[in-house]
Amino acid sequence: MHTLHLFEFQDQNWIPSSLRRTLFEILDCCNTTILPYNQWVSKSILQQATQKKFEQIVELGAGTAPITKLLAQDSRTDCLSLIACDLKPANDIYQELKQRYPGKVDAIATPVDFSKPYPWKSSTLLVLSATFHHIPPLQRAGVLSALTQSADGVMIFEPLRRTPVSMFLAVCTLIPALLLPILMVRQPGTLRRIFWCWLCPVGTAMFVWDSVVSSIRQWTAREWRAALKQPLGSPRVPVVKTWINSQLVAW
Ligand SMILES: C[S@@+](CC[C@H](N)C(=O)[O-])C[C@H]1O[C@@H](n2cnc3c(N)ncnc32)[C@H](O)[C@@H]1O
Repeated sequence: MHTLHLFEFQDQNWIPSSLRRTLFEILDCCNTTILPYNQWVSKSILQQATQKKFEQIVELGAGTAPITKLLAQDSRTDCLSLIACDLKPANDIYQELKQRYPGKVDAIATPVDFSKPYPWKSSTLLVLSATFHHIPPLQRAGVLSALTQSADGVMIFEPLRRTPVSMFLAVCTLIPALLLPILMVRQPGTLRRIFWCWLCPVGTAMFVWDSVVSSIRQWTAREWRAALKQPLGSPRVPVVKTWINSQLVAW
């Protein structure tokens, strides 16, 4: 099993909040504006929730909650409850979402660490998008059991794979990172984006580094299948699917 776990800037506590926000915006731009990754994730979640009759969807490691936002916009989730949470919650964004979708979206304002079991109510589907690779390889088996114990369903999505094509595409994120101030020109925060992406382009450089490291941190389908062979303490049968630059693991 691959055990290399290089550092990512996203994991560092010393990153100023304005830079962290800019890194999330580049991520959202790559996964929603440039590629329809987040749309694919929310569509797959909705399909699973409808088929298996889940009543609650929890986005773990939600960051700025792009998946909860997309799900909330869809009227087919009107009878579901959607919850966003993170180890470092983006409370201003969660508050906005709660106000825009009262009674439908909720968020946990205190840190929720998905590597530890959490007593979610029954009929809950846990979803992790672009976040499982933040767990070091030696801790991943424990986290898989914690997730299994915590809810009736789990879906893990990743927008990258550990392949040469995916690593190349990770380097290409330089382009949306540099274009961010233009792509988001109509939204507040232009000066902040110009600062971190152009004047002092550490935001751009950090994002490209994090993307390449995220690709290296991924498990291959074979590694996923081996990890999921360990008893998860559940009769649920895991599914592992890969595409050119994304993957889905669900059980
Ligand atoms: C690359 S960001 C992805 C955020 C979001 N899912 C998205 O797609 O935009 C990874 C997120 O995982 C969160 N995270 C990392 N380890 C975590 C843990 N053990 N428990 C909860 N959240 C975690 C980080 O705080 C960060 O917000």
